[in-house]
Amino acid sequence: MQNRVSQRETRPKTPQAHAAPRGGRKQALSQVVELRPGAVAVIVVDNPPVNALKHAVRAGLLDAFTRARDDKSIDAIVLAAAGRTFMAGADITEFDKPPQAPGLIEVLDLMDASKKPIVAALHGTPLGGGLEVALACHYRVAAPTTRLGLPEIKLGILPGAGGTQRLPRLIGIDKALPMILSGDPISAAQALDNGLVDEIVEGDPTQGAIAFARRILAEKRPLRRVRDMEDKLEFYRANPNAFDEVVAKSAKRTRGLAAPAAAIESVRWSFELPMEEAERRVRAKFAELRDGDQSKAQRHIFFAEREAAKAPNMPAGTKPREINRAAVIGAGTMGGGIAMCFANAGIPVTIIETSREALDRGLATIKKNYQNTVARGGLKADDMERRLKLLTGVTDLEAARDADIVVEAVFEEMDLKKQVFGKLDKIARPDAVLATNTSYLNVNEIAKSTQRSPSVLGMHFFSPANVMRLLEIVRGADTAPDVLATAIAVGRKIGKVPAVVGVCHGFVGNRMLHARGIEAERMLLEGALPQDVDGALTEFGFPMGPFAMSDLAGLDVGWRVRKASGAKAEVADALVEAGRYGQKTGRGFYRYEGGSRSPIPDPDTERVIVEASVRHGIKRRNLDRKEIFERLIFPLINEGARILDEGVAARPGDIDVIWVYGYGWPVWTGGPMHYADRVGLPYIRDRLAEIAARAGNAKLEPAPLLTKLAQSGGKFSTYAKAA
Ligand SMILES: NC(=O)c1ccc[n+]([C@@H]2O[C@H](COP(=O)([O-])OP(=O)(O)OC[C@H]3O[C@@H](n4cnc5c(N)ncnc54)[C@H](O)[C@@H]3O)[C@@H](O)[C@H]2O)c1
Repeated sequence: MQNRVSQRETRPKTPQAHAAPRGGRKQALSQVVELRPGAVAVIVVDNPPVNALKHAVRAGLLDAFTRARDDKSIDAIVLAAAGRTFMAGADITEFDKPPQAPGLIEVLDLMDASKKPIVAALHGTPLGGGLEVALACHYRVAAPTTRLGLPEIKLGILPGAGGTQRLPRLIGIDKALPMILSGDPISAAQALDNGLVDEIVEGDPTQGAIAFARRILAEKRPLRRVRDMEDKLEFYRANPNAFDEVVAKSAKRTRGLAAPAAAIESVRWSFELPMEEAERRVRAKFAELRDGDQSKAQRHIFFAEREAAKAPNMPAGTKPREINRAAVIGAGTMGGGIAMCFANAGIPVTIIETSREALDRGLATIKKNYQNTVARGGLKADDMERRLKLLTGVTDLEAARDADIVVEAVFEEMDLKKQVFGKLDKIARPDAVLATNTSYLNVNEIAKSTQRSPSVLGMHFFSPANVMRLLEIVRGADTAPDVLATAIAVGRKIGKVPAVVGVCHGFVGNRMLHARGIEAERMLLEGALPQDVDGALTEFGFPMGPFAMSDLAGLDVGWRVRKASGAKAEVADALVEAGRYGQKTGRGFYRYEGGSRSPIPDPDTERVIVEASVRHGIKRRNLDRKEIFERLIFPLINEGARILDEGVAARPGDIDVIWVYGYGWPVWTGGPMHYADRVGLPYIRDRLAEIAARAGNAKLEPAPLLTKLAQSGGKFSTYAKAA
């Protein structure tokens, strides 16, 4: 047996099944590379870049498995994939098109019916539909670096091809449900531990799978069909309450989301219903979710995220510069977090401060942050040590000399920033990228304080910088394409979602936030309370509203900026002047008890607000939720329209990505511009016109682009395509 099989492992002849190439590029093809009498047949899927299960791949698999079934000389089958990963999921672009047979279920049914053992050879990221294919195999072996998961929930859908039924059968509901509800992948070692894979193989996983197949043939092991494995479900059949306990433990925040509820229901069917009936119902749920607004919004963000890092007008072939060492100037709130991002990605980083005291404070905060993560189980102690070793603190700007990239995060003062960049110009290497983390200031003006404005740009991180995913990359008037490309590449490397924007006051996110903030404050004077305003947004799905957010950031920060510029915020100023700085003093717009971060409405704040209304001669009235919500969201969308019109954001999807990743906009509504298209632009235009007239504020008038699109029946999404 051994000899016979090994003889037949030599590599391929002709591809047995493949799609016709389109446009000269190598297209979807699923090849049977070995089908000789008596052999362990090896089916290799080869559909770069990630072997997505598009139609041609499904057709190829169906053909290959049929041949393997019918070829009497084949005893076992290995299913593998070429390139960087085993199948990493469905082809999401097919979701919006009519389905094309064969569907994945047909392929899996054929695999299930196989009397010959099928062994999956896993590497890379078998995700979603890819993992569902692996689950329909009888055995799974994996390379040590493999990461396996069912990320469907992140796109507002659920695993529709048996994942909700086979995974609980194979690894048990207590392990399967958290994987399905989080969408996060697990490592090969975890998969070996919970039984998802049978063996971890060093070297070529296909060879490992062939050896494994040979062994089970030699041992005459019975077929191990996952759909027939019932033992792990028996417990839940006998104790249905146990399922609710697993749900309570695994369900993250699911309020307002259709997909998690559907996923929980589907897993419940795994032990309540015969598998065929459960699968039928899951497919119906899948179709319902796929066609619903939430999944459409989440898919929009999935694609928009990939687009947002593509800067317009980049010369073909622009290559990022190599980054091996970073420097961060300022070890405050932002500088510390930014330095952690570099260290987390394995990039050595020097933190530069003005005084030993400020430096020590900054370094101590970084260490405490890491220690907290270790204490929570989010990081191993030796990983913390490794990261801390990559961080060096100094009090001399000269240390920026070695850095390939410098990120400035000193106080938000133009003169100070200019002074720092002027000095950096003399110190930094000629090919270094010089970035500022300014929130509002003019990046072009900062760049002009150097003799090398093409090397300067903004890298606007969000607080806390080591946690928040968004990175607004601000392209200055002179920024060189390769400098921009470098910032994007570094952003990705340190785990951020880069969105390229242009120069204006507050860039995209903060400029739109400002429009929301003005109305929020205005509504307090008219009759609303902080909890009414914040409630309108948390009800929609934001983690917090503007006033809870101000309390978190500290009201004194904005107050100081306003004092310097002569601006006023009636209620916030009065609160600060009464010693209410927010969470840090236990009182702000809300009250906070015993170190808790939960805001409690406070009658004292109400008094301050009512007094402010009286001072302004405003007769307070009742504002309903709908009015509050629209007055917060529509001015923000209006500002987004201006930003698009000015070209500060290249695409409406970029704005959506910024709001989802930087400001907690609920992803299942797709971001402000996607949401506006759904609500309908004529309605938003009309409401804005009313709001502007009532407030006597021309800034709230519908923006020209919004008016134009509303009149022509257009949408923000189609506007971008036409541009
Ligand atoms: N805090 C936020 O939420 C946030 C978010 C995004 C961007 N930003 C921007 O990031 C920058 C820093 O903000 P922050 O909140 O970290 O401020 P911060 O006050 O917490 O820290 C600033 C640090 O810079 C140091 N510093 C001042 N001058 C220096 C110099 N010449 N050389 C070296 N260090 C110097 C200070 O000692 C201080 O530790 C600002 O431009 C701010 O607008 C802040």
